[in-house]
Formats: sequence, structure tokens, C-alpha cells
Amino acid sequence: MPVPSRVPLILAPTPLHPLPALGARIGLDLWIKRDDLTGFAGGGNKGRKLEYLMADVLASGTEIVLTCGSLQSNFVRQLGAACAMHGVRCVAVLMNLPYAPETGRPSGPTLPPTGGNVVLSAILGVETIRVPDGTWDALFEATDYTAGALERAGRRVYRIPVGGSSPVGAYGFVAAAQELAEQGAAFDAIVVPTSSGSTHTGLAWALKGSSTRLIGIACDAEPSLVEEEMMTIGRGLDELTGEPKGLTPADIEFRLEWVGAGYGVATEAGQRALETLARTEGVFLDPIYSAKAFAGLLAMAASGELTGRVLFWHTGGFPTLAAGLAS
Ligand SMILES: Cc1ncc(COP(=O)(O)O)c(C=O)c1O
Repeated sequence: MPVPSRVPLILAPTPLHPLPALGARIGLDLWIKRDDLTGFAGGGNKGRKLEYLMADVLASGTEIVLTCGSLQSNFVRQLGAACAMHGVRCVAVLMNLPYAPETGRPSGPTLPPTGGNVVLSAILGVETIRVPDGTWDALFEATDYTAGALERAGRRVYRIPVGGSSPVGAYGFVAAAQELAEQGAAFDAIVVPTSSGSTHTGLAWALKGSSTRLIGIACDAEPSLVEEEMMTIGRGLDELTGEPKGLTPADIEFRLEWVGAGYGVATEAGQRALETLARTEGVFLDPIYSAKAFAGLLAMAASGELTGRVLFWHTGGFPTLAAGLAS
């Protein structure tokens, strides 16, 4: 299988270790994969995607990278660092709280528009364009508009989709599955947060045909993610690698029960899960992604749906936990 070019950014392999105290309490042989400790720009899953995305950016000779997301985006922070390190301008079109059109703007505890990643992205020199809150489609339209304006001004722009979720980005998680296999522990199930979809799709593509059950817990109330974005990424991985795996929706277990009011809104179950892991094992989650996924893991353990040796894939997000919550 041809391997896409990569620029080294993260410290890999990330630690893999058991969580004995919590595991005993919930009746699982519970382990954790510490992508919160990638060692790059505050940690998190995006460093893996960026190793391949940045190689593509540099090969294209483009002078500006353009992406979009929420104001407290973990991806924008890590992209900003990768761009700064390689002398590329990073422009991000941001909404405080983008939402799904079906649900409208959800209410509840959200991240504040200051502190956390907002501070870190500014340190990294990310050029942000803030647009009023609206649907994800409105955010994508504003980003198209910005790309057009930059191109009309004679700039060459490399567009990176929200969360780095292109096939090239997802390849970072194909490589991550290989890294896990080389660490030598086999799992009955892996639980991971799913939002823009390439973390989950990269792992699902790599694990297709294996006996490990992969469960993605939704952080966005968007069931169409599987049929649309994730299948597109799966086909892209087939092309990129020249190894057609033919991922289908049947290969994806995507669970919407723990998403709460919607993207960017913290849940009570997530807060309880976050406190449980912090107080038993000294590991912090973030309120928007990993806490919701961990709430799903705890609920599935309690109902007996999860048994045996289970891995929680920690995707990072600590800066937003430290930013606190606003209503
Ligand atoms: C901390 C954290 N966890 C999980 C995710 C979800 O990853 P993906 O967008 O690849 O589905 C994100 C993405 O924004 C994130 O920042």
C-alpha cells in the first residue's frame, strides 16, 4: 500500500495503558489510548491528521491554508501551530456555535468565546474571520466566500475541511490503528468520539474485517454523517492507498444517544463522566467531545452492552475544559 507523505509533528506512539481503578469499578478490562498526549501544540487527535495534511500543503506550494470551525476549535489550534512552524499563513472562518438545521441553535452550557483555544490560536498567529452563528452550511458558505475573495486577490489557497476530515487527514488514523496494533494489545471494543468523522473513518477503514468492535459516539446530532461524509472519506482512502476496502455504512457503528442538545453544548452525563475519570484515574476529558464519548462508554458498561477488554481512545481537548462553560 503506498503511504502518503508525512511531516513529523507528534510524539508517537502515544501511551496506551490500563485504567485499573475505574475498570474494576465498572467491570471492564478498561484501557486508554492517550492522544491527549501527542506532545504537539497542546495535544489531541488532530496532530495525527496534520502530519499528512501538512505534507500535502507543503507539496502543493500553497501560501495560505483556509479552514473553518467553531471559535474554540481544537483543530484550528493545532493547524495554526503546524502552519506557523512551516511558514504558511493560516486563515480560519469561525462561528461561536455552528448548529444542525434540524435542531436549530441548541441551548445549554457552551464554551465561552474567550480563553482556551481562542487564546492559543492567537498566540500561534491564526488569522480568524468571525461570522455570526448559524448552520454548518452557512459556515461552509462563508468559507467558500473567503476562499473566492483570497483567490480573486491572487492568492493560492489550500482548503482543509472542518476538523481536517479529508481522506488525507483520515490517513493519520489508518496509521494510528497500525500504531495500536504494534503496541501489542488486542481489544474487544474501541470507543471514540465522532464529530467531523475522519478519526472514526480512518480507524474503521483500518479495522475493517477485524474482530474489534469500533463504536463512535456522536458529538454532533447528525445521523447523515455516516452515509455522506464518512463514506466519501472511505472511498477517498481506497483511492489514496490503492487498496479498495469498500467501507459501507454497515462497517460504522455511530451512536447518537449521548449527544445531548447538540454540538458544542455540554451534557450532565458528560460532566459526570469527566469527573469520574478525573477522580479515579487523574485523566481529564473535554466537555464537547471526549466527555460525551466517555459517558457513552460508562452507560454501555452499566447496561452490559460492553464487556471484556475495552479501549477508550482519548482525543484531547484539554484547552476547552480549562476555558470553563458559559450558559
Ligand atoms: C477533542 C476532540 N475529540 C474528538 C474530535 C472528533 O474528531 P473528528 O472530527 O475526527 O470526528 C474532535 C474534533 O473536533 C476534537 O477536537
